[in-house]
Order: sequence, then structure tokens, then C-alpha cells
Amino acid sequence: MRFTVAIDGPAASGKGTIGRAVAAHFGFAHLDTGLLYRAVGAKAGPEGDPVAAARDLVPEDLHRDDLRSAGAGQAASRVAAIPEVRAALVAFQRSFARREGGAVLDGRDIGTVICPDAEVKLYVIASDGVRARRRWLELSAKGDPITEDEVLADLKARDRRDAEREAAPMRPAKDAVVLDTTEMTIEVAVARALAEVEAKLA
Ligand code: DC
Repeated sequence: MRFTVAIDGPAASGKGTIGRAVAAHFGFAHLDTGLLYRAVGAKAGPEGDPVAAARDLVPEDLHRDDLRSAGAGQAASRVAAIPEVRAALVAFQRSFARREGGAVLDGRDIGTVICPDAEVKLYVIASDGVRARRRWLELSAKGDPITEDEVLADLKARDRRDAEREAAPMRPAKDAVVLDTTEMTIEVAVARALAEVEAKLA
């Protein structure tokens, strides 16, 4: 069975948590595509060539332990604006999406560019304040000394860059179901997403 769930949305909207839960529930594979761009940014470093880093990306690059930091997120957002970087990552994402047994991919352009024919498309949003609070809780639990205001500024800068770039900008696909998680618990948000998938699987 081939079945693709595309989940897009801005940073810290809840798409990763929802993606993991949907994949676990249905036994689908899950790919956090943001991690690919984070790994490219980290591999290239401030002076390196991001296009070469994207073309040479290997699975071990995804296991570096510094990829979740706010700095790695900013570096990811910058390299993600380069069309050749995005092009180098397309084939891997598409073959992951069409693997046997079902797949969930979360990112910014999955429903619009990577998998325009995905069986389910979700676009997950939440208010800036709620996203900053969630991400700050996550980072500070890991010992990151970043403040909530810094997280908010970081998310806004990244969203602006991701939405305004020319290459595969962040935006909902025309046929995406928009899920606003601002007032939802994670359980409710996951239940909504599961219901969307159930409806298409039936
Ligand atoms: O989902 P994330 O916050 O880990 O993503 C990090 C950055 O990578 C994000 O700011 C933009 C970029 N990205 C992208 O351009 N396209 C994707 N499909 C996923 C992430």
C-alpha cells in the first residue's frame, strides 16, 4: 500500500508531534524534512558550500546532536532558500513518500511541491505566542538558556524567510486541511489529524 500524508506549517506549529503520532498510529514511516535542511546547514557551516553539502548528504549527517538548536534552525532556513539545495533533496523525499507501507512527511513544501498528489494534506498553524511558548519549553527542558522572547524573534524571522523566498515558499496547498492548534491540546490536534487520515483510508 502506498499512502502519503503531507504535513506543512510554520516552525513549532505542532506538525512534527502530529506527524510522529500519525505515523505511529498507522504504522507509517515518518520523515521530518526540516532535519534535512538543518543537516545541510550544519554540514556546510558558515563558510562552506551548502549545495555541495546537500548533494553529499548521508544518513549519518542527520544524527548530529546540535541540529535542534535555534541556531541550526536559522542556518537551515537560510540554506533552504537556495534552489539547488532544495533540488538536491527532492528525489530522496519523493521516494520516501512513495515507499511501501505508507509515509508521513512534515515540512514546508510537502503538499505543494514534494508530494502534490499526497492522499492527505494538512497545514498546521498556531499563534506566534503559543508557538514560542511551546518551543521555548522544549529548548529550556534540554538546558538551552534561550529566552522566550528570543525564541519568538527567531520563529518570526524564520517564518518570514520561509514564506517569502522564491523557491518552494511555505504556504498551504489549495487542497490542504488547515488545522489551527492554538487552542488545542496535543491529544485533540492528533485526534483531528487521525480522523482526516481515517477518512481517506476508508
Ligand atoms: O521544520 P524545521 O523547523 O526543523 O525546519 C527548519 C528550516 O528548514 C525551516 O525554517 C525551513 C526549512 N525547511 C524547508 O524549507 N522545507 C521543508 N520541507 C522543511 C524545512
